[in-house]
Amino acid sequence: MRSSISFVLDGKVVTEDFSKPSVTPTTTVLNYLRSLPTHKGAKEGCAEGDCGACTVVLGELDAGNTIRYKAVDSCLVFLPMIHGKQLITVENLKTEAALHPVQQAMVDTGGSQCGYCTPGIVMSLFALYKNHDHPDRNVIDDALTGNLCRCTGYKPIVEAAARSCIHQGIDSSSNDEIRIAGLLQSIPRHSALIQTSNHTYFQPRTLLEALTLKHQHPKAIIIGGSTDVALRVTKNHEQLRQLLDVSLVDELHTIRNHSESLSIGSGVVLNEVWSAVEADFPALADMFAVFGSLQIRNLATLGGNIGSASPIGDTLSALIPYNARVVLERVSGRREVELDQFVTGYRKTVRKPDELIVEIILPKPKQRSVVKWYKVSKRKDLDISTVSAGFRIDINDTNQIQNAMLVYGGMAERVKRSSSAEAFLQGKPWTRETIEATMPLIDNDFNPISDARGSKEFRRIVARNLLLKFWDDTRKETNGAAA
Ligand SMILES: Cc1cc2nc3c(=O)[nH]c(=O)nc-3n(C[C@H](O)[C@H](O)[C@H](O)COP(=O)(O)OP(=O)(O)OC[C@H]3O[C@@H](n4cnc5c(N)ncnc54)[C@H](O)[C@@H]3O)c2cc1C
Ligand code: FES
Ligand code: FES
Repeated sequence: MRSSISFVLDGKVVTEDFSKPSVTPTTTVLNYLRSLPTHKGAKEGCAEGDCGACTVVLGELDAGNTIRYKAVDSCLVFLPMIHGKQLITVENLKTEAALHPVQQAMVDTGGSQCGYCTPGIVMSLFALYKNHDHPDRNVIDDALTGNLCRCTGYKPIVEAAARSCIHQGIDSSSNDEIRIAGLLQSIPRHSALIQTSNHTYFQPRTLLEALTLKHQHPKAIIIGGSTDVALRVTKNHEQLRQLLDVSLVDELHTIRNHSESLSIGSGVVLNEVWSAVEADFPALADMFAVFGSLQIRNLATLGGNIGSASPIGDTLSALIPYNARVVLERVSGRREVELDQFVTGYRKTVRKPDELIVEIILPKPKQRSVVKWYKVSKRKDLDISTVSAGFRIDINDTNQIQNAMLVYGGMAERVKRSSSAEAFLQGKPWTRETIEATMPLIDNDFNPISDARGSKEFRRIVARNLLLKFWDDTRKETNGAAA
């Protein structure tokens, strides 16, 4: 059992044993870096994942022992979570001889003014450089969505990305990368128990260990990607005394594609879920396109978004129309719950204290089903939903609705279906007249609140109009019979 963590920084293995009071298991990677004399490049702008000034790149070994690079917000990552990974900061990019191509391009295009955002932007561009050759504008925009620049403007930064991410052979590793991969392989893969005066931090490596620990310590706070949990430390200044970090449990990272369904491990990060669902679940792919930023999607897990049971959790309103099921497991066995039945109230679920979410099962939709997902927010990117809606209709050959599912986020204390509207739609023709008669019924099922994101009246109007939009958007897919 380990009581320390090891990772690669500045080209060598660094071990932290948490004996110094200044470094605890809930110290974020950002605060750790800024405590070092040589790594002040990463900046704190918001400490909540919104500005990207703290962006670093994590290098992780894949199954073939090749390093894969991901930009993440270091303000959201607890230090033990980088065990076995390479931590790359802005100080690591330039060589004695030259700036890194992304840094040189930022200089050449005038991509920096006050410079506060620049180290974070450079790290996002570095990850883009590592993962893409000739990225198109959409890919560049996605890479920069999580980086806020208040003074330069994005034109020269986008230009720097386009100019510098042009190279050959993104998969061929350099000698230094092969050396770093060797260092990463040499780091022990055991489970960890980090005990300090204020914290007990469990870091199991197998599902059985994780379940056993949850059985023994049902109050331990589960950490998936920590994009929600870290805010309890950085924003609420809570002392989280007992943590169960499941981010290194391999069994939770698998995706299995069956003929009838797709099974996604709860620990799979959202950016990887996005790639896995694109072919069969287009409404889910639409949702991920406006979910947080790349830095958030590289950390946040599917199990964490479902587990947080937020009334505006975007995956919930997009997964329920696909009849997703949640697999819960504890030492004594596993059970499946319809996702629709999983959340029972404001951040309340049917999960027992000793259970973990281990898997999400998505049945593949039948041909005549149409599913769409919508998000209304103050900004298109990196914003949480004011109202979200996931709709599904199954219609027969004569354009009659056989089954309708209307799921709303942001309209109640939990993501919830409009059962009155669904019942009314049953057996009706899929026409504008039907939709107009249905729209007022949505009000019966919701009593939304007014808050900074929108008034309750606004939410009611949006909820009704999104249904009309759904009908309009689906006319072609339903053979135009509804036109
Ligand atoms: C800047 C920013 C932007 C965001 N944008 C969006 C957005 O657009 N849409 C949206 O819906 N959300 C958004 N979020 C919220 C957040 O990213 C998600 O809720 C995220 O998916 C949580 O996943 P995680 O793995 O980071 O969870 P964690 O923070 O690790 O955990 C979240 C909760 O789930 C529980 N949990 C985690 N894993 C498990 C498990 N295996 N079994 C049981 N319980 C578990 C934890 O105990 C905790 O209660 C945003 C957050 C930030 C900081
Ligand atoms: S400090 Fe703003 S995203 Fe981390
Ligand atoms: S250069 Fe000033 S915030 Fe971007």
